[in-house]
Amino acid sequence: MWTRHGVWLAGGVLALAALGAVRAQVEKGGNVEKAGQVEKAAAGAEPSEDKVPAANDPDKFAWDLFLEICRPAGAGTRDVRWEMWAEEDNIFADPNTEPRWPGQKPQRQLRPSRQHELRKLQMPNLKALPDLPGDRAPGGEEVRINRHAFDYVVKNGLWYQQGVIKTAQAPTGIKFPTDSLAIKALWKVITPAEKPRYHWDEYTDPKAKKPVTVGLIALHVTSKVLPNWHWATFEQEDNPAFADEIGAHDSYGMIPAVVRPNAEPNKGYKTALKPVLLERMKKDGLSPEWTHYRLKGAQIDFTDSTGRPTILGNSITEAGFVATSSCVTCHARASAMLGGGNPPQWTTLSVFRPDGQSDNGPVNPNWFWAPGSPTPKFYQVDFLWELGFRPKYRTAK
Ligand code: HEC
Repeated sequence: MWTRHGVWLAGGVLALAALGAVRAQVEKGGNVEKAGQVEKAAAGAEPSEDKVPAANDPDKFAWDLFLEICRPAGAGTRDVRWEMWAEEDNIFADPNTEPRWPGQKPQRQLRPSRQHELRKLQMPNLKALPDLPGDRAPGGEEVRINRHAFDYVVKNGLWYQQGVIKTAQAPTGIKFPTDSLAIKALWKVITPAEKPRYHWDEYTDPKAKKPVTVGLIALHVTSKVLPNWHWATFEQEDNPAFADEIGAHDSYGMIPAVVRPNAEPNKGYKTALKPVLLERMKKDGLSPEWTHYRLKGAQIDFTDSTGRPTILGNSITEAGFVATSSCVTCHARASAMLGGGNPPQWTTLSVFRPDGQSDNGPVNPNWFWAPGSPTPKFYQVDFLWELGFRPKYRTAK
């Protein structure tokens, strides 16, 4: 009894310490809770206990992050913290003008999923690809990075092509600070009756001009807390294909922890959140709509310890290639090279395999290196695809 209690107590204290680390990662400056209290509590804990929560309990770490970034951005507003971060359209708008941190909620700009656009371009001969809810205007996608990542982009000139290559060629290469976070969010148009089950916003498409209500259906979160990043993906619980093909796995927050795929696609899934998580959401002041989101899974390595590729894909963002999807492998291919020509030609590795599926499992050195050559064919850009696609050529001195 005593031992069990002791173990439980140590676990709780360390969880607190881990949470302190997450808090510090999410926000720079204001709003960070003082770590002092947490440190005092952890003082008696054994040093060999879980020091790397992101690696040793990736599902729980995913929720620690979620609770931090989905908290209200300020009193009396429905906006949450990640919605205050810099959106990639702003970061890469003009290669000759240094981007500025938004400071207040940036204008929401949704666009069709880039991944799916690319897939269509790469495979015009593939039969009709599944239509994403987000593909239907004016739903869509956005990509944001937190302040730590943003400052690194600005400091190293990663918002224009020459800056990306120059940093990639430096001895350390492109290496984001460990407190960097990036999200990709996908929204669809919802009805007023659906509002309570979604994180929603009123959105006016610049072309359509008529405001609609959009609800968040998918949220990717990646954190540089590990060298190859920690990858997590969340879905709104009503997504009909939530656990299709590959199932879902969340040892921390979901009942049941392991969801097996239905025999038929698009039939929906009945799951719940564990009381411990619901309690934390309440305590952290998350609005009730967030109880309708599920962690589909977290990924921290290319393979499991027996060498099998790890697979993780969101039923919305990775629709059409969920069964082969590997966040960490596909993102390892995020790359760039500036070749000859005027202006010099910018290229990246392809996002998809020729059959329209994702690479998974270990990285293949042949992607980056020609045999015997000391110079790479492509520079890796630290797993962020936006650095492969968005930077433009700078013409200003
Ligand atoms: C087959 C390739 C592929 C797979 C698999 C994939 N992604 Fe991505 N991801 C992309 C591309 C391409 C973009 C760039 C989209 C853009 O900039 O608009 C992207 C963007 C992102 C971003 C925004 C930051 C960035 O890289 O620019 C995050 C975060 C992200 N993905 C997380 C995930 C997670 C989590 C998974 C697994 C559940 C995943 N991705 C699976 C290709 C992939």
